[in-house]
Amino acid sequence: MIIHTDRDLSLSGMETFTPKTFNIPELVGIGAKNIEEHLKLYKGYVSNSNLIINKIKEYEKDPVENVYVLGELHRRFSFEFDGMRNHEYYFESLSDGKKEINKDGELYKKIEIEWGSFENWLTQYKAIAMTRGIGWVILYHDKQTGHLLNQWIDEQHLGHLTGLSPVLCLDMWEHAYVYDYPTSEKKKYVEAFFENLNWDKVENNY
Ligand SMILES: [Fe+2]
Repeated sequence: MIIHTDRDLSLSGMETFTPKTFNIPELVGIGAKNIEEHLKLYKGYVSNSNLIINKIKEYEKDPVENVYVLGELHRRFSFEFDGMRNHEYYFESLSDGKKEINKDGELYKKIEIEWGSFENWLTQYKAIAMTRGIGWVILYHDKQTGHLLNQWIDEQHLGHLTGLSPVLCLDMWEHAYVYDYPTSEKKKYVEAFFENLNWDKVENNY
């Protein structure tokens, strides 16, 4: 954490962000147009995170007068910030070309221990992806217990589990596949996602 001694301490750590770039190759079943438009939305989460940070700095000059506005800005921040981070995990996992999971690797072995088989885990993960509404499926690692678990997140931020680290994030907002599939066929998008995964990146998150 960075402490700004020349500013209000409540601002410490709240620096602005720069959009990351991703080396996404031609994908199977997820078109370049969809990726291009999706990356624009990602950049929107980065710029809106920065906007909120800058607004908070501005309104904190008079925290008594702006107490309600500040509260709402802090409430809204997790939507924009988590939107930024979720997409970074997502695009990173689709970067630098497809790579199969290493069956001798730690992640594969842990999944087998937790779910009995890799297929069992995959079946559960894909089933969660069919949850009604907009949000994310996330495979988490709980460093406190060492366990893995699959979880649904509403929107970008509702349902995140404290202290757990994302390992694999799948975007289930309609914008993630709308150029490629009608909403009634989102299952095909889920299959396409797994066809393109760079498991090296996913294993690095574990
Ligand atoms: Fe998205």
